[in-house]
Amino acid sequence: MYYSVAPSFIEVISNGVAQHNIASQRDKDRIVVEKPFGTDLASAKGLNDLLNKLFYENQIYRIDHYLGKEVVQNIAAFRFANYIFEPLWNNKFIDQVQISVTESVSVGTRGSYYDKSGALRDMVQNHLLQLLSLVAMECPGNYDAEDIRRQKVKVLKKVRPFTTATAVQDVVRAQYTKGEVKGKEQVGYKEETNVARNSTTETYVAMKVWIDNPRWKGVPFYLRTGKSLERQSSVIVVQFKDSPHKIFKDDVVPNRLVISIQPEQKISLLFEGKVPGLEMKLKPLEMDFSYHDSFIEEAPEAYETLLLDALEGDATQFIRADQVETAWSIVMPILNAWSKEKGDMKNTRLVAGAPKKLKS
Ligand code: BG6
Repeated sequence: MYYSVAPSFIEVISNGVAQHNIASQRDKDRIVVEKPFGTDLASAKGLNDLLNKLFYENQIYRIDHYLGKEVVQNIAAFRFANYIFEPLWNNKFIDQVQISVTESVSVGTRGSYYDKSGALRDMVQNHLLQLLSLVAMECPGNYDAEDIRRQKVKVLKKVRPFTTATAVQDVVRAQYTKGEVKGKEQVGYKEETNVARNSTTETYVAMKVWIDNPRWKGVPFYLRTGKSLERQSSVIVVQFKDSPHKIFKDDVVPNRLVISIQPEQKISLLFEGKVPGLEMKLKPLEMDFSYHDSFIEEAPEAYETLLLDALEGDATQFIRADQVETAWSIVMPILNAWSKEKGDMKNTRLVAGAPKKLKS
């Protein structure tokens, strides 16, 4: 069964499925549930309780299509199949991590859903926190559903809870206004179909997240996402610390590992090198691995991969009940803080879509 429905329909459908024994075989029948999985922590818990009452947890496949993307699946391979990166993957060497999903598309025809949701619920609670957990998790014992998901939950539980003060100080929200995107006129968010004319729903959110464990102590994770921005791009930037050796006259740019999920699919390492010539002059250079250049086959679409996994009973790339609830617990204090200060919005037209170094 594949539920691609609003959360409010899940109860009636699930009761029907259970009553008519459509998914009664524990090892064979599976329920794939699309996002949004709840609209807050309480409703997500309610959905989990309902599904767990009617079906076994190993039958429930909560989908997040970001986990089906080729480069996202490669994060675990990159980190754990290459011994050279893992020793550097911590607060001794990493200065900050930036996870940016910027979209040039607007809400378009999805106004009635989006206006009740906003960027935090629509993107951060699921896709961005999944990316964060893949970058930040500890090495699983095995590459299988139980171990991978256990490590993801473990690291999400170490995300420092937002307080009312940090939700205001470390999280920025904004809404797009009328302007031009890729040379085309774009109406403001409040002028979109099925959006309230006085809406305070955020179409952009940027936040600083801390992970309180020994590996990540002191390393900020910057998460950003928004619609109707200049660029369509999903990218993770791991920025390393400045070199402690200052032996060259030129300024040295810190190393960066850039994992581009889309539209380009590539992983690049930025490093300093010598410019050819008589002088010792430095320049930032790039070592690239591009999917397009290295593989002839087109990568399958995220949904092709995930739905095939579900048919085959492989839950590695699906969200467990405790994962979804932990992710909701992270964003709830922000939603609560915002609900108390309605109307204080910034204008996203002034917010560049491309990832830049943020000040911590
Ligand atoms: C969906 C969100 O989950 O992800 C959309 O509901 C968003 O608002 C989409 O546009 C982004 O997915 P992708 O694969 O285009 O980056």
